Amino acid sequence: MIGYGTKLRDLEKILSIISVKNAGPLSGSMTVSGSKNAVLPLLAATLLCEEECIINEAPDLKDVEIMCAILRSFGAEVCFDKQEKIVRVKAANITTNEAETELVCKMRASIVTMGPILARTGRAKFPLPGGCAIGDRPIDLHLKGFVALGADVEMSEDETGTGSVSAEAKRLSGGEIYLDTPSVGATQNIMMAAVLADGVVIIENAAQEPEVVDLANFLNKMGAKIKGAGTDIIKIEGVTKLRGAVHGVIPDRIEAGTYMLAAAITRGDLTIENALAHHVKPVIAKLRETGAIVTESGDAIRVKADKGILRSTDIKTLPYPGFPTDMQPQFMAYLATVSGPSTILETVFENRFMHIAELNKMRAHIMQKEERRAIVPGGSSLVGADVTATDLRAGAALILAGLAAKGETRVADIYHIERGYEDICGKLRRVGADLTKKQ
Ligand code: UD1
Repeated sequence: MIGYGTKLRDLEKILSIISVKNAGPLSGSMTVSGSKNAVLPLLAATLLCEEECIINEAPDLKDVEIMCAILRSFGAEVCFDKQEKIVRVKAANITTNEAETELVCKMRASIVTMGPILARTGRAKFPLPGGCAIGDRPIDLHLKGFVALGADVEMSEDETGTGSVSAEAKRLSGGEIYLDTPSVGATQNIMMAAVLADGVVIIENAAQEPEVVDLANFLNKMGAKIKGAGTDIIKIEGVTKLRGAVHGVIPDRIEAGTYMLAAAITRGDLTIENALAHHVKPVIAKLRETGAIVTESGDAIRVKADKGILRSTDIKTLPYPGFPTDMQPQFMAYLATVSGPSTILETVFENRFMHIAELNKMRAHIMQKEERRAIVPGGSSLVGADVTATDLRAGAALILAGLAAKGETRVADIYHIERGYEDICGKLRRVGADLTKKQ
């Protein structure tokens, strides 16, 4: 809401739009940046040691800036060289173990600094986190993990009604944690708390996402003893101290998938460089089911959709290695344009269909059947419209739809998109798209 207190910068943020016009099939090659979802926990992990850590291939994203600001708020020295894509962090002294409400509420993923702060200082107090408006997104599993490691966890509310949670334990101890859902954030948070625990910690039904593996690799470089990351059982043997380390962020599999769909939805031919095929297997499989030709070579994936009729397919989102929920909105936009009806089942998050109303403004005619099931009739000739990015991936879906729609699509609330896609306008323009950011 725009009020008297709204600053000019906030106003610009609110009023910025991306204008997309159909420029025909995209062709050429584009390069994927470092993963947003991997770099955020890597940065959080730098709080676990006194020495300097260097994170290479860090994408220039709003969320990375916010995470750098959060690290600084805890007393770390942080330098983000956006040209070189390097973040240097030295957390020699942690000056507070209480998170700044205004900062951490900007980004839900900020909660992954709680485990490191708790492990490093023996206490952490955090407001309940913000982020994309997808479902309830609780943090009960993160807290359950801290309790299993011997922390006392308490919830409280201040006079303004802001809820916060604190966890306290002089030194965390070993324990076993079974996650009811293989939560990515909870697995990462517990893993980071556990590396400095006294004893062995076992996380069962752990998340198996590549971002969990990347974090474990970095922590092991810092001197942690983690085994099993990438499987559903992770074993962490606590150590007393970690050292500084250098690490390169893995490529962003969701950005790769989004650009693969940009090729498909425009019936184009794109080669996506710095894309790891084994991280996007379900996207490749589903694209092939629709008739697109996908070829893998080294760390590049080529998607060719310029010949023949593309057909419908059904999608069911699942934790990794299943079809990623973060690709569901973009795939839905694509399926609106192919021949025949498709069913989409969202099992990871509730309330992750807010893009349906926006895609329908572009005449996609998608029907939400139940809270988690949607039918995409397919065969739609999309038309440009004024639409709103309700969250990060919904925003990406609307840009994709705009690339294939007749006329102009104006996407509002693009700050969501800028949280997770580095230079999306530039990257798409260079392969023939017509899109411009306007204030
Ligand atoms: C991460 C990703 C996000 C992706 C999601 C699922 C980052 C920064 N974000 O989010 O892009 O969409 O994984 O792949 O990496 N849950 C609980 N209790 C908890 C924690 C989670 O019930 O304490 C539930 C959530 O409500 C959701 C499911 O677990 O239904 C998965 O969420 P989770 O894996 O935790 O997602 P994030 O780590 O927040």
